Amino acid sequence: MSVNNKIWLSSPHMGGRELKYINEAFQENMVSSSGSNIIGFENSLQTYLGQDSKVVAVSSGTAAIHLALKLAGVKSTDEVLCQSFTFVASVNPIMYMGAIPVFIDSESETWNMCPVKLEEAILDRLSKGFDPKAIVVVHSYGMPAKIDQILVVAKKYNITLIEDAAEALGSSYKGQKCGTFGDYGILSFNGNKIITTSGGGALVSKKLADKEKTIFLATQAKDEAIHYQHSEIGYNYRMSNISAGIGRGQIEVLEQRVHSRINMHNFYEELFEEIIGVSMLNSPNKDFESNYWLTCILINETVAGFSKDTLRKQLSQDGIESRPLWKPMHLQPIFSDYLHFDTGVSEELFKNGLCLPSGSNITNIEKQRIKESIYKVLN
Ligand SMILES: Cc1ncc(COP(=O)(O)O)c(C=O)c1O
Repeated sequence: MSVNNKIWLSSPHMGGRELKYINEAFQENMVSSSGSNIIGFENSLQTYLGQDSKVVAVSSGTAAIHLALKLAGVKSTDEVLCQSFTFVASVNPIMYMGAIPVFIDSESETWNMCPVKLEEAILDRLSKGFDPKAIVVVHSYGMPAKIDQILVVAKKYNITLIEDAAEALGSSYKGQKCGTFGDYGILSFNGNKIITTSGGGALVSKKLADKEKTIFLATQAKDEAIHYQHSEIGYNYRMSNISAGIGRGQIEVLEQRVHSRINMHNFYEELFEEIIGVSMLNSPNKDFESNYWLTCILINETVAGFSKDTLRKQLSQDGIESRPLWKPMHLQPIFSDYLHFDTGVSEELFKNGLCLPSGSNITNIEKQRIKESIYKVLN
């Protein structure tokens, strides 16, 4: 199977006008960390997200989480409560800060942070003399977390909420866009995301002062002076004007991309409708509007008669990429020494779950190939 024939989980899908914006940057010789594409991309994101959001475009989603932790005032040896069922980039910036992650397991409806376990963890830490400084909640695979309940807990104990919406641009809860609920939200425009800037991310905040501080920290924390003067440690995290040009072309087609991902989800829903032992990550109710960045299934091997590995291997033989669901952070060798507040849900998801090809650029012919490959296992 050649690389050209391979069906990927989620590959970049250009919109058409990206090169126009890149060319403009070339013509103006604005190819570095300032320019009209950066401003234009940030403005488009702000308009799209609503809620009077303040957006700063940065070099990656990981960088955005790092900056959010800085803004939250997290210090070395502080505890940060973090969803366990996620990609490692949700946690790594906690480690960059020298802070200590405390992992919170998922509930079974959205597969995201369990609000009950979150409160249990906070009470436990407070009772032992610790004072958690921030919460990192994730909208995994684009499915909104139970964000209203998480917010209630965060407010009750006055803990900063960082919303990792890396996978959830275009998702919303009760009509409000993911990434705009927390004190800080982050987005990713990595190549596999619903829209891409080749690599990049954004930090969403509520206050102009936070936006200004983010830009300051993301551009080496330069004090106002003619010479180079620094009173704080900064980072080289600003998005380039070239990447932002790609972003401008991409955000123009975001709604279409969300629509296509939902169509992919519907395609799988129909395919697995009659199959016992296979369930999908579906919105619990109409309040949860997922962008269905990736369609995910759970296979009960005893009932279905096949495992996720059997299906993955068959798909792979047919040149189709699929991936096990996240291995929870509390099961990762690097994080084995950290506290974890368990529901058992994420471990089960890892054991039996699979992500299926969900790209907005998957053709009808490719869908047919996927269907035929899956049928080989179902039969
Ligand atoms: C849940 C989650 N958080 C954070 C990130 C980090 O984003 P980036 O790759 O842009 O650094 C990603 C994606 O890569 C992600 O899936």
